[in-house]
Amino acid sequence: MADVHIRNVSKSFGEQVAVSGLDLHIADGEFVVLLGPTGAGKTTTLRLIAGLERPDAGTIHIGGHNATALSPAERDTAFVFQQYSLYPHLSVYDNLAFPLRSPARKMPEDQIRRRVEDVAKMVRIHHKLSNRSTKLSGGEMQRVAIGRALVRKPAIYLMDEPLSSLDAKLRGDLRLELKRIQAELGATMLYVTHDQIEAMTMADRIGILADGVLAQIGTPREIYSEPANLHVAARLGQPAINLLPVGLLPDGGAPAGTQTIGARTEHLSIDKAANGHADGIVDWVEHLGDQNHLHVTVGAKKLVTLTDPDTALEKGDKVTIRYRAPLYFGADGQRLM
Ligand SMILES: Nc1ncnc2c1ncn2[C@@H]1O[C@H](COP(=O)(O)OP(=O)(O)OP(=O)(O)O)[C@@H](O)[C@H]1O
Ligand SMILES: [Mg+2]
Repeated sequence: MADVHIRNVSKSFGEQVAVSGLDLHIADGEFVVLLGPTGAGKTTTLRLIAGLERPDAGTIHIGGHNATALSPAERDTAFVFQQYSLYPHLSVYDNLAFPLRSPARKMPEDQIRRRVEDVAKMVRIHHKLSNRSTKLSGGEMQRVAIGRALVRKPAIYLMDEPLSSLDAKLRGDLRLELKRIQAELGATMLYVTHDQIEAMTMADRIGILADGVLAQIGTPREIYSEPANLHVAARLGQPAINLLPVGLLPDGGAPAGTQTIGARTEHLSIDKAANGHADGIVDWVEHLGDQNHLHVTVGAKKLVTLTDPDTALEKGDKVTIRYRAPLYFGADGQRLM
């Protein structure tokens, strides 16, 4: 495995800027997740590293060597595509074995068999090894695509939303499994998703991508508790962070220049109003099974927090609301403290 160093890389398609001034270092053996909405430039970033796109500016080093001008084959990356593509005329086994059978490798068939069987078990497709790849469900095809990347030991694995077409249970299982496999192999991995849970649970570091710009990179904990701006704050947390205008609620501690206060559940105390004063009214207590959401109307704003399943609050209750060390943002959306 190798480290990957992207310096000041930009890529446009005509007028459309896909990636702008990207600086990103992925250490050897590190698992970095790029999180961003649709069109943020995630796939383009992976394609630039794989050599499927050429940057307009900037350099890409893989394992200390300048790879900017190298062909995809010379870069030794393994790519799981967003639209996974298998060889339809081949069996699952032969799809998995394909990357190992390149003439340059000269790997003996018994060694290939061992590797394919190991990987097929990892991605839970070993019971379908002799199936034609077209005779699989979408989720099975996606697991074969992941397996086809994992049979090799490249400089870096590039994975583009590889779990997106799986059901919730399998996604949860494979998320843990992929993380375990990556740690075991000591693999360098750049993984792209718009699923915040995948990012939080798998990443050593999360990079938040917005409109082709890396807004912030840090450990999941840093990104969650110390977001650099409103955009990053809004990417993580379920329910989403409440962004409230300054002055809506008593906010004694707000620094000068605060325009927006960011408050997650842990930044708010909400109690049934006593002695006449109230800040808001309970709209709804929403029971989702694993989570319970409290919806409160405050003036013209609504806020949502987590609450206990057996909360005494109910629709129509008047409540007092106090901030507890929330996040403060200026007029430009940048975090003040
Ligand atoms: N080959 C291309 N030609 C023209 N525009 C492109 C091309 N590839 C990407 N783009 C544009 O570049 C921007 C970034 O695209 P990209 O595919 O990297 O986004 P993404 O973050 O992967 O989104 P998604 O989550 O939808 O997959 C988008 O505005 C997209 O329309
Ligand atoms: Mg994409």
